[in-house]
Parts: sequence; C-alpha cells; structure tokens
Amino acid sequence: MSRLFARKPVDLVLAEAEAPEGGLRRALGKWQLTALGVGAIVGAGIFATTGSAIAGGSTHVGAGPAIVLSFVLTAVACGFAALCYAEFAAMVPISGSAYTYAYASLGELVAWIIGWDLIIEYAVGNVAVAISWSGHFLELLRHFGIQLPAWAVTDYRTALQAAGALAGGAADPVAAYLATAVATAPRVLGAPIILNLPAVAIVAALTGLLVYGIRESAASNTAMVVLKVGIVLFFIAVGATLIEPGNFRVHGGFAPNGFGGISAAAAIIFFAYIGFDAVSTAAEEAKDAERDMPFGIIMSLIICTILYVLVAVVMTGMAPWTQLGTPEPMITALQLASGNPRLLSAARFIIAFGAVVAMTTVLLVFQLGQPRIFFSMARDGLLPSWAARVHPRFHTPHVTTILTGIFVAVFAAFANINEVVELTNIGTLFAFILVSAGVVILRAREPERARPFRVPGAPLTPLISIVACGFLMFQLPAVTWVRFGVWLALGAVLYFSYGYRRSRLRKRVSELAG
Ligand code: ALA
Repeated sequence: MSRLFARKPVDLVLAEAEAPEGGLRRALGKWQLTALGVGAIVGAGIFATTGSAIAGGSTHVGAGPAIVLSFVLTAVACGFAALCYAEFAAMVPISGSAYTYAYASLGELVAWIIGWDLIIEYAVGNVAVAISWSGHFLELLRHFGIQLPAWAVTDYRTALQAAGALAGGAADPVAAYLATAVATAPRVLGAPIILNLPAVAIVAALTGLLVYGIRESAASNTAMVVLKVGIVLFFIAVGATLIEPGNFRVHGGFAPNGFGGISAAAAIIFFAYIGFDAVSTAAEEAKDAERDMPFGIIMSLIICTILYVLVAVVMTGMAPWTQLGTPEPMITALQLASGNPRLLSAARFIIAFGAVVAMTTVLLVFQLGQPRIFFSMARDGLLPSWAARVHPRFHTPHVTTILTGIFVAVFAAFANINEVVELTNIGTLFAFILVSAGVVILRAREPERARPFRVPGAPLTPLISIVACGFLMFQLPAVTWVRFGVWLALGAVLYFSYGYRRSRLRKRVSELAG
C-alpha cells in the first residue's frame, strides 16, 4: 500500500528539470505568463456558456441578472484555489502542473489520478472551445455571405436537436440551417457523415504552431490577448450605453431563481475561469519561476474577474434575461438592444471576430499545457518513454503535442458542446481540490522547505478552497458525475496495467531496497 503512495522527493523533481537532456527552453517573463493565463481564461466561457447560465438549460435553472453574483462566487472559489496553485508553482516550478505537485506531496497514485483528470480539463475542455470557436467562425463567415454545407460544420446530435427545435416551432435561422445536415450529408453504407470540419482545422493549425516552438507561440499569444481584452472592453463600453434599467426588474427581478439559480450558474460559468492554472504548466519554461508564477496566476485571475463582472452587468441590462439563453449571448444582447442599427450591426461583427480570436488563444494555451503534462508523466515512466521526446531543433515536446492535437480534433469533430463543458468543469474542480489538499499535506510533511510564495492563512485558505470547489461540483448534474466516474475508472485500469509496473520512482525505490 505504501508503494502506491510513494512520493517523489521535491529535490529530485527539481534536479530532473535542471538536467541538460530533456530540458525545455526558459523563455517566458511575468507578463508573458499573465498573458498565457488571460489567454487561457477568456474564451468560450464568457462568450458562450454565459447564455445558458443566465437563462437556464435542460438540467438547471438560470441566474437571471444575478449572474453577476455567480461570477463573484466562482471567482472567490477560484481565488482560493489560485493561491494554492501559486504556492506549488513557485515551490516546484516544473512542467506538469498539479500532476507534479501531487507526485511530491500526495504520492504516485494520486499524481496519476490528477494527471489523468487533467486530460479532462485540458484536452476535453479544448474540445468544447474548438466547437464554440467553429460556431463563432461560421457566424463571422455569414457576415461575408459565406455558408458552408451544414453537414461539414456540426455534430450529429446538434443537427438532430436543431431539427427538433424547428419541429417545435422555433424560428431561428441558424437552427434551420443546421437542421439540413442530416438530409444533405454524404453517406457511407447508409450512415450520414456529419462532422465539424472548422473545429478540426483550427486544432490542426495550432498543433503545427506549437510543434514549431514555445517562444513564437507565446509571442503570438500575447498579441492576441491584447486584442481580445480590447474587444471585451469594447462590448462593455458599447453595452453600457444601451442599458435599460427596467431589464434588471422584469421576469422575477434581479435573482428570479434565488440562490439555487445563482449557484447552478456558478458551476457552469466556472468554465469561464478555467485556465489560470495553465500558467503553472509552463513553469519549466519561465525565466524566473519563483517570482513570476504567483504573479502570472493571480494577476490573470484578477483581470478576468473584473472583465466578467462588467460584461455580466452590461449584458443583463441590455435585454430581458429570459431571452439571452443562446450560444452567442453577447451577439443576442446586441440584437435585442434598441439603438442605432448601424452601430449595433458593426458591434455584432466586431464581437463575433473577437470571440474567434479569444477562443484561438484559449485553444493555444491548452494545446500548450496538455502535452507538457503528458511529457512529465512519460518522464516519470507512467506513460511510455517515447512520449517524453523533445524535438532536437524546436525544443518542444512534439510527440505529445501531436497526440494531443489528434485527440482534440477527433472529439471536436463529433462531440456535443454542453456535455463536454460540464465534464470539463467537474474534472477541473476535482483537480483544484487535490491541489489544495496537497498544500496542506506538504506544509505538514516538509515545513522547512523554501516557499517563495506562501498561501496566506493556511491551512484555513486551502480548506476553504476545498469546500468551495466541492460545493460547485455538487451543482453539476448526476450524468456528469457518472461520466467522470467512468473516466477515473478507465485511468485506474491504465495505471495498474502500465504505470504501476514502469514507474521510474518505483524502480529507484526497489533498487535502493534491494
Ligand atoms: N476559460 C476557458 C474558456 O472560457 C476555458 O474558454
């Protein structure tokens, strides 16, 4: 039993990263790390999931204008978790994020569980973002009068849902278009071929960029982040002039479904905050990790919280909350607001463009993070060693980068976005809980270790983080819990059939014992 919980000494973790072979290039400064965080955070969450969080969906009620409180509630939960991440990231500035921290504090089995769980956050999360990217990209093409065949831009279930919505009397032109997918699709042995090609294309393009190199990727990310923050500020500025205070009072007022609506929405828009932890996966590539990691993680969270709260106030002031439940709520709010039609039309175009840029940066950061987690796991022997190869010229973990690209592209081609978002949230909240527990445990086990950044108020702060994240997990539907359980069970099978036998740490322990 104790072997299952063998811990990797922090000094060994640090020494491995210093080893010249297998080292990654240290190229990122503190504002580049912050940009990496903002790049990962502002995306499908604010541009898409806000709609169902405000107006409600099939498995939950809506928050209404009180969505502002949902954003604050989730930001507080994330803030506590962010402090825990920052302590770990500064103390163990090694590629691999929560996985590496867990290996040093909670032992190999828990580390494996987290590494496996992080696939949900990074790769499955990116499946959702790629699908949403595709939806907004099509919206953008429509402004130029371009329309691709419906069977090449969606998934089978979304096409069926669109057909169902039309049969139910909906008069949505986008639903009418998607509903044609089944009838027009090419067929193989009678089965219609329906797949989301724009989602596949963007993932393939970014995978190529990431194989090419971290510095180039981070520079293009910084430029895109500046652009996307500007576009969110643009929505806030334009929207602020369109607020009609009456919208905060209609259909049940500010909090029509009370705390139930606020907390259900909080668990959904949690997706909008995922990403500040992605900064920690680039620790091995930071110039001065000890000082810059906490800065990058916390600063990116603060910037995004301010943006989200302002977007939420403006959006629910522009239109009645019951009408905002679409996949593009910002566009919808601009459609419903009364004002200069030419200005509103131009604003819609700019927001559609901004959403595409924003989600490109999210995809970039998670496509950057996932391979580095695989890389760390392979370096430890929990995954095959070929996955830990670094490209001789580009110094990037090209094998895992390409594998991640294939995984995300294949699922983005066929998956349904809502299910993917809920699964991502539950998996990520679970990782946050394990990281927070890890801070408490490592403080007790190794109190003397240098901590360039210390969570203030520990152990209370990490405990609040655990409770807050647990609370959000319990807001998610039962089917999401079942899917999550199946995923963890699959991971356990893999661990005991491969990683448990091949672990480098376990080999060393047995050699020392023998
Ligand atoms: N926070 C990221 C987004 O909203 C995952 O797209």
